[in-house]
Amino acid sequence: MEFSLVKDNVADIRSDSVVLPCYEEPRLPAAARKIDRTLGGFLADKAKLSDFKGAFGKTVLVDTPGDFNTKTVVLLGLGKKENFSALEAFRAANIAVARTGQRSRTISVDFSGLDKEFLGVFLEGMDCGAYEYGKLKSSGKKKNRIQKVYIASRKISADYFNTQTARASAVSKSVAFTRDLVNDPPNLLTPSILAEHALSISEGSEYIDCKILGKEEIREMGMGGLSAVSFGSSEPPRFIHLSYRPPRKSRKKVAIVGKGITFDSGGLCLKPADSMRTMKMDMSGAAVVLGSMKAIGELAPGINVHGIVPATENMTGASAYKPDDVITALNGKTIEIINTDAEGRVALSDALSYAVRLGVSEIVDLATLTGACIVALGLHNAGVMGNSSNLVKSILSSASNVGEKMWELPLDAELREEIRSRVADVKNVGSRWGGAITAALFLENFVSDVPWVHIDIAGPSYMEKTSDWYRYGATGFGVRTIVNYLTER
Ligand code: BES
Ligand code: ZN
Ligand code: ZN
Repeated sequence: MEFSLVKDNVADIRSDSVVLPCYEEPRLPAAARKIDRTLGGFLADKAKLSDFKGAFGKTVLVDTPGDFNTKTVVLLGLGKKENFSALEAFRAANIAVARTGQRSRTISVDFSGLDKEFLGVFLEGMDCGAYEYGKLKSSGKKKNRIQKVYIASRKISADYFNTQTARASAVSKSVAFTRDLVNDPPNLLTPSILAEHALSISEGSEYIDCKILGKEEIREMGMGGLSAVSFGSSEPPRFIHLSYRPPRKSRKKVAIVGKGITFDSGGLCLKPADSMRTMKMDMSGAAVVLGSMKAIGELAPGINVHGIVPATENMTGASAYKPDDVITALNGKTIEIINTDAEGRVALSDALSYAVRLGVSEIVDLATLTGACIVALGLHNAGVMGNSSNLVKSILSSASNVGEKMWELPLDAELREEIRSRVADVKNVGSRWGGAITAALFLENFVSDVPWVHIDIAGPSYMEKTSDWYRYGATGFGVRTIVNYLTER
């Protein structure tokens, strides 16, 4: 999607569709009133007929007569101005594209009423809204046809616009990359193929190196957790380490770590068929790490960033790890396996230990870790837990900057006893209660005293239906927060 800034009134731009964002206010915005006058009051009539008052997400589509500048006029409700934030900006942009994409090659948007601080997320929303996963259909034709977007505003400078478009394009490309990885079926996206994607990121950027460990190296290094999870699969595991070094030297080092289970059958503690479906998405954390590294390579922030992914399937083969097994993680801690379906935390134990060894000053992990987090927060919020309230705060603030919903859960010390083992240092599952929290408390054993935040993205990573502002399948949730976090400091 190509964006250009236009200083004219949006009514004077020639394009297939014009989008008129409207706050919930008594009068339509000036641009809408101007268009309404040319249409002889037809737009206002239609708005009245549809009871359009600017409520968030509500739209009115009007087909115009042949001699008009555009074929379609869209009123797009933004809700109350005082409630408007990055979340609404991102979603409204998604809706704008969903409503006009099938009928337009070019669209123009009246941006004159919106604060310029929302330009970036709005552009990201438009780009992300046009995402389609069509590569496995033999009749592969894109439904969304939008190629060019004119943003009409007199209040935005060309410089500001150019920085925002460049950034939004880099971010959206990375979100699309992440969504593709998650949407790819598990027979076509194995741990080794995921590793090849990581390699391609380092090949595409002069600032990024990539190290891949294979099955033997993983075992020899002492990564007992990742090894154990991989034993039941005939696909070999991979340990992926991408490192970004900034153009100008910096001492600050951050690690982002992502759960990379390319398919979670549950292992010997096999999932029932209904819960096993969609478990190709259990590498969403890994996909966010790869997507974020790709964006970081383009945006080149001034800090060192390590992207770390333990990648494996969780299967039931003859050598599969079993309940009662005790394994040793890279940091030397022993883990009693209670349930082989709590495999993500077991694989992450090594990845977090590895991050600590790198000497990073912060660790952020993303994982589709627990169904319990979905029970607690629903599908639309990620759960955030950590050992540093400052780091938790910065992550939550980045999430709100970009309009991704995240909510803190307490890392409740009282629940630590739930995962105390009688035979080993820790066990991989506690009781039924507080499952998202006990999972995080398990991970805590492997981060030493490094400031760390865990983001459980089990809910928002993958949607099983299409709504106004998201589409069936992978969402890429997390990339925009992480990129904001790593670049806005
Ligand atoms: N990958 C799942 C968690 C999950 C569930 C992600 C639903 C996305 C949607 C994880 O490995 C898992 O199976 N967790 C178990 C843990 C249990 C065995 C303690 C769960 O949540 O049921
Ligand atoms: Zn599992
Ligand atoms: Zn899992």
